[in-house]
Amino acid sequence: FVHSKTLTELEYLHDTAIAVDATGTIVAIEPLTPSTPTALPARLGWAPSPATTTIIRAKPGSQFFFPGFVDTHLHAPQYPNVGLFGASSLLDWLNTYTFPLEASLSDPAKARPVYARVIRKTLAHGTTTAAYYATVDVGSTNLLADLCLAAGQRALVGRVCMDSDLSPAYYRDEGPEEAVAATLASIAHIDRIDPGGGLVRPVLTPRFAPSCTPALLKGLGELAAQRPDVPIQTHISENVGEVALVREMFPEQESYAGVYDAFGLLTGRTILAHAVHLTEGEAELVARRGAKVSHCPCSNSAITSGAARVRWLLEKGVVCGLGTDMSGGYSASVLEAARQAVLVSRHVSLVESEGEGAKLSVEEVLYLATRGGAKVVGLEERVGAFEVGREWDAQLVGLGVVDGEGGLSEGGTDGEEGGVDVFGWESWEEKVAKWVFNGDDRNTRRVWVRGRLVHERK
Ligand code: GUN
Ligand code: FE
Repeated sequence: FVHSKTLTELEYLHDTAIAVDATGTIVAIEPLTPSTPTALPARLGWAPSPATTTIIRAKPGSQFFFPGFVDTHLHAPQYPNVGLFGASSLLDWLNTYTFPLEASLSDPAKARPVYARVIRKTLAHGTTTAAYYATVDVGSTNLLADLCLAAGQRALVGRVCMDSDLSPAYYRDEGPEEAVAATLASIAHIDRIDPGGGLVRPVLTPRFAPSCTPALLKGLGELAAQRPDVPIQTHISENVGEVALVREMFPEQESYAGVYDAFGLLTGRTILAHAVHLTEGEAELVARRGAKVSHCPCSNSAITSGAARVRWLLEKGVVCGLGTDMSGGYSASVLEAARQAVLVSRHVSLVESEGEGAKLSVEEVLYLATRGGAKVVGLEERVGAFEVGREWDAQLVGLGVVDGEGGLSEGGTDGEEGGVDVFGWESWEEKVAKWVFNGDDRNTRRVWVRGRLVHERK
């Protein structure tokens, strides 16, 4: 078992057994001995039968269990557009690619296959928790929540709010009251299908300041105050044109972060995607309010938004996680986001004022992908690490083992499985680094959420 202990440190639990009960909760973590498979269930009072106790072993040397990934920011309806962004940047990308597609998914017959596919795809990449933006349409937002619940993916599902004339007339809320009412309708649906939010939870989703009128932001801020159990997600300071637009649209506010703060939307349960161009004062305000940041490196490079200064945010005390921001980002894989986070941080380090300290390590990006992400979405007591009391949201990662002839002795045949070649002389630290930079969904052999097997690679 490999998991993040701290931001900078992975813990390698060799020769270890983890027991998960019928509710999907980790109830014991202890050394694995020959007697463990019988002694541990007996001590836990479990019936001594293979019918009630399943034992899953990682192959020594080539497989390991890792916490499921937390994708702290992605847009389910944008999946058909992955890889399509041309020469655009944020504001023209929204109008050219994004709004027409999202609007078209108010047809449930069109939304269903897209959402079913997104869930299968993200699970196959090891994403056990996803913070989703749906669309303005309540029916298809609720469908996304239904499908997450049925597939067993842990999810935050947000009905997108946007009533300003930044958005085209064919795809926006009629007004602030309508947007708040539609949000309430979607929250009520999610509360009904998963009371207590064991798996699926609603999230207030003002798309971003430019797409919301002050009246809508005010309405959502009031709703946030009434429902302190519901998180909030939005975008912030992704693109310089967007920042300028916010200054123009909200001249009475001091800053972009100040806009959300003025309406009661900058809170300890707020997930802010991007945060590329925050000022010193804004980062301090975000830290003071305890709002969290979803770092989306793949998206920030793809649609030329910029390079977020993650080290700078972390040093200010801002909790960060990773987001694919699909389809701003072209990949549904959090492992890809982790890899891109390393690369972007190395570009940041080349800026004289930032320096070497800006570089993020493999350990750090894996922390952001799991334990950090869990904090970002408010699930730090439930997921993100292997600890007694947390739930079994995990992936079994398998690496291809090269045999004496240069073929693969484990992990399938060349080209079909593998993705990462291991020669047997690597340390575990090196195997994990190879996985981060060369791994993909072929290496994600099985995935569980709350103890339930939700994906298996045949
Ligand atoms: N800002 C407002 N909407 C969006 C969106 O859909 N994607 C990204 N990346 N940024 C946004
Ligand atoms: Fe986004």
